[in-house]
Amino acid sequence: MLKQWLRPLVRPLPQWSTVAIAPPSDVVTATLCWHGKTEDVTRDHTVAALKPLVIATSVEAGQHPELEYRDRATGVLLGVLQLTRMASLVVEERSIALYHVTAGEHCCLRWPRRSWNRWLQNRSMRKASSSQYALMEPAAVQQLMIAYLCPRPVVLVSVGAPAHQNIFPMDLIGPLERSGFFSLALRSTNVSQSVMREARHVALSGMPAQMKPIVYRLSEHHKHPLTDWSALPFPVRPSQQFGIPAVAAALRVQELSILHSEEIGSHTFFLGRFVSDEKYADGAQLHHTAGFHQAYRLRYGPPFVMV
Ligand SMILES: Cc1cc2nc3c(=O)[nH]c(=O)nc-3n(C[C@H](O)[C@H](O)[C@H](O)COP(=O)(O)O)c2cc1C
Repeated sequence: MLKQWLRPLVRPLPQWSTVAIAPPSDVVTATLCWHGKTEDVTRDHTVAALKPLVIATSVEAGQHPELEYRDRATGVLLGVLQLTRMASLVVEERSIALYHVTAGEHCCLRWPRRSWNRWLQNRSMRKASSSQYALMEPAAVQQLMIAYLCPRPVVLVSVGAPAHQNIFPMDLIGPLERSGFFSLALRSTNVSQSVMREARHVALSGMPAQMKPIVYRLSEHHKHPLTDWSALPFPVRPSQQFGIPAVAAALRVQELSILHSEEIGSHTFFLGRFVSDEKYADGAQLHHTAGFHQAYRLRYGPPFVMV
């Protein structure tokens, strides 16, 4: 009992919660607000890079908009990001606005726990050896966690070129609905990044939540290509048009034709359109959200199913 009471005083919440959600995950809405105008961007904003932390959207929202995240059922404000306009990309006559995240705050924990938890999290980030923490300042990771208030689905991305094959997990992905694009933000150090820019197509396998351990194991393929599809711990099947091996047990396999790619800071930002979409099963997909978001839901309900 005493231990339970003491835990939040000495241990930070986990930064990320891995949760099981049946798609589409629309429990949280995202709204861009500028000069008294608002636009729902729940399905029209994605992370384009981590350093600097950049958000992409098809909505032109002025120089300094705010991005609000609210619980869809209650309308309660969960967090806000302050954005500053950086640039626009024009692809197939559609414009994509890029916004630098300059500040942010969440409302999932009450004061003083919110400030104390942030201090504990920042302290453990400074001590950790993960490549993400080497890349990003703790303040930027805190802002990234706010962007994860909209739970992010996890896919395995398959790359199949004549001399290079690979499959690795991604969650910095999502639709830019008004422009009809789907985006991927891949660290430019990824071993398949240049092949993807040349081959211009990939297959995305929506991963069932129970396959989390395998998905995490495959993160090593961000650094090392796959030697042989038969070495994978699960069966694959060819994707519909390009014949790229995708996960046979996936909930859904979508083929993305890549129309544009460019480096934005630490990441390569890919924009593409789906050319096929095969739904194989209903069920819960692996998602990531912020740990403080799950803490909020455990208190006010309904909590996400943890995996
Ligand atoms: C579930 C999951 C999703 C990931 N999503 C992305 C992504 O969208 N973009 C990216 O560049 N890297 C992504 N990564 C890779 C990690 O950010 C990291 O580079 C990789 O796990 C190697 O980490 P390490 O250098 O700390 O060992 C993902 C990893 C995992 C496990």
